[in-house]
Amino acid sequence: IRRHFSNTSVLNNVIENVTVIGGGLMGSGIAQVSAQSGHNVLLVDVSPEILKNSESAIAKSVARVAKKLHKDDENAANKLKEETLSRIKYVTDPLKSVESSDLVVEAIIENLELKQKLFKSLDEAAPKKTIFASNTSSLSIAEIASTSNRKDRFGGLHFFSPVPVMRLLEVVRIPETTEETFQSMMAWGKAIGKTCIACKDTPGFVVNRLLVPYVSEAVRMLERGDASAEDIDTAMKLGAGLPMGPLELADFTGLDIGVFVLEGWHKKYPDNPLFKPVELQKRMVKEGKLGRKSGEGFYKYT
Ligand code: CAA
Ligand code: NAD
Repeated sequence: IRRHFSNTSVLNNVIENVTVIGGGLMGSGIAQVSAQSGHNVLLVDVSPEILKNSESAIAKSVARVAKKLHKDDENAANKLKEETLSRIKYVTDPLKSVESSDLVVEAIIENLELKQKLFKSLDEAAPKKTIFASNTSSLSIAEIASTSNRKDRFGGLHFFSPVPVMRLLEVVRIPETTEETFQSMMAWGKAIGKTCIACKDTPGFVVNRLLVPYVSEAVRMLERGDASAEDIDTAMKLGAGLPMGPLELADFTGLDIGVFVLEGWHKKYPDNPLFKPVELQKRMVKEGKLGRKSGEGFYKYT
């Protein structure tokens, strides 16, 4: 692992070596965009089998990116693919993976206790300089950071799905995050080709704080029978210029994720009517209609 990471990194806080923990949908994308922009990446998950899937998802996605960027130049496309893939190593030991890391981006499942436990153990294994960040969609960064002794070098780096395509990165600070840490995260975001915005540690940061109530409102509209799913989606695509309608987006993200987020926020902020769980969505999740990943949500996928 040490040999994979160059030991001349962190000149003036420049991030070269990145550890991504969690090789699922988001972690694979984060590893890919980091490697595409020249960073050395260690991608960590719990088993070699899962990491094999991460590797093939990354290979497929980088091929799409290379084809798009170098339409008429096969050599350049191949070079981008090979170089990107060669910069990613797949490992199962999280503690070893942070030994020479400048930045850790955590993208494991959305569970506060698991994230806290992970960061506590990483805190003991990583050098002082290493910045820790979580890609959480809905949890509080301060709560995730509470088990570590490096709150000054802790923040949120919130990506959007599909990571290689979506251009935004939300950079989240907690009160203890130093300006230096924040600027390093912003600079890294820019280096990987994202447009960064600064966020406070508020529920859903900026995008999900707006998007989650909007999607929920669309489900309530369907539940009331005001319009069909197709018409709601057509309305927002053609009337508001969005790439996907809200119900298509719910299927794309996963209905279970939507229910989980709303339930968490509702528990914490019971007086906010925007966070009230939606009965139809809860019922669909119970029936196994999770969206694209289960083959059926508001639409059927074959
Ligand atoms: N890797 C690389 N490239 C990809 C890709 C991937 N995984 N997925 C799509 N692309 C590329 C395609 O190759 C294609 O490139 P060309 O323009 O060269 O053809 C381009 O992206 C568009 O893809 P498609 O033609 O396949 O499909 P599309 O035009 O319908 O776009 C989409 C698909 C990009 C997903 C688009 O529908 C979209 O932007 N949807 C909204 C997504 C969104 O809102 N995401 C945020 C969700 S919320 C979130 O993520 C936060 C959270 O915490 C839950
Ligand atoms: P996912 O289920 O696709 O992937 C999670 C991965 O983490 C799995 O491969 C799992 O094996 C691995 N994992 C679980 N515990 C681990 C541990 N202790 N150590 C190492 N690996 C572990 O989930 P995802 O959609 O990629 O989401 C990951 C995170 O990103 C969540 O916090 C989620 O809220 C956030 N997020 C998701 C989206 C989205 O659209 N899916 C968007 C932005 C942010």
